[in-house]
Amino acid sequence: MSSRLQAESLYKVFGRRPGEAVERLRSGADREELRADGTTAAVIDASFTVEPGEIFVVMGLSGSGKSTLLRMLNGLLEPTAGHVRFDDQDLTALGDRALREVRSKKISMVFQHFALFPHRSVRENAAYGLEVQGVPRAERERRADEALALCGLGGWEKSWPDELSGGMQQRVGLARALATDAELLLMDESFSALDPLIRRDMQDQLLELQKTLKKTIVFITHDLNEAMRLGDRIAVMRDGRIVQVGTAEDILVRPADDYVASFTQDVDRSRVLTAGAVMDPDVRGDEADCACETATPDTPFNELCAISARLSHPVAVLDKKRKLLGVVPRQRLVGFLGDERGEPAACATPRAKAVTTDA
Ligand SMILES: Nc1ncnc2c1ncn2[C@@H]1O[C@H](COP(=O)(O)OP(=O)(O)OP(=O)(O)O)[C@@H](O)[C@H]1O
Ligand SMILES: [Mg+2]
Repeated sequence: MSSRLQAESLYKVFGRRPGEAVERLRSGADREELRADGTTAAVIDASFTVEPGEIFVVMGLSGSGKSTLLRMLNGLLEPTAGHVRFDDQDLTALGDRALREVRSKKISMVFQHFALFPHRSVRENAAYGLEVQGVPRAERERRADEALALCGLGGWEKSWPDELSGGMQQRVGLARALATDAELLLMDESFSALDPLIRRDMQDQLLELQKTLKKTIVFITHDLNEAMRLGDRIAVMRDGRIVQVGTAEDILVRPADDYVASFTQDVDRSRVLTAGAVMDPDVRGDEADCACETATPDTPFNELCAISARLSHPVAVLDKKRKLLGVVPRQRLVGFLGDERGEPAACATPRAKAVTTDA
């Protein structure tokens, strides 16, 4: 199966003589050098692929180039160099009209401050993308209502936007994106303006929806905890460049450089890690006790600690068919919490192994 979305060595330079700037970047110049000439290298040599059904998170500080990158993915911004392929079609080579067509049918965008039309009902707002596509009224209202129901807004179809809370308005934005059947959702800080509790709610809702809808999603955030909760994989951006692409565990446990490590030092590891990530997979069947309480790869870290506390031997991690996948000795749990500088302890050491075989 080919990737749904591919970014190939994308550059975006704002300012004079952008082509020349790209050449300089290719031969090693950095953002600062170009800035001296009044040129901004917003995105530098970004390459990655997004698989069908994946939530791909792009994370980075303000100004790191996230929004610029996202706008190139749907052709709102033309890359200075590089290519964007969506379902094997080179978006960078399409004419305006063909591009608009792809954008209206296959790609939806959800922004941070979702601007609803104040004089349209919630239903009409959710149906807006379909209206643009020319879908007849009855059908677009049916599909809008379905999408609203999916987003927990059943019963609010006839309300006006100002009757809704901020979180609910943001849900209408999500419903609008879902109603179009777009396969690719681009979400730029979509939950960032919400209160923490509502934000968490929206994250849960998105994960829940994703279980059945299986959209391909590129989600931008500057919040590492949000990135870790939502992302199947996370790309970390710094000064226009992608410095690491990996799972939450990769980023946390195997940071590509000191920058990524410092970025992750405040993350509550216990909320990110699961039994599958911390277990020692290098174990034989007779080394673990599978008769007592056991874990699955998805068991959250905190629960794993609780199980471990009740057992005198390592926790066995089993798959759905109760096949042994690995074990978690208690010492290994401590090792994964990292020290106070946030550096992961040497987690793949055979130290844990020695404990297992004693059992
Ligand atoms: N149209 C533009 N013209 C000139 N410079 C721009 C333009 N758009 C973005 N930039 C610059 O490009 C860099 C990256 O901006 P971008 O908006 O992509 O960052 P971001 O990671 O989305 O930041 P934030 O988290 O604040 O939204 C910044 O230095 C910004 O000032
Ligand atoms: Mg932005």
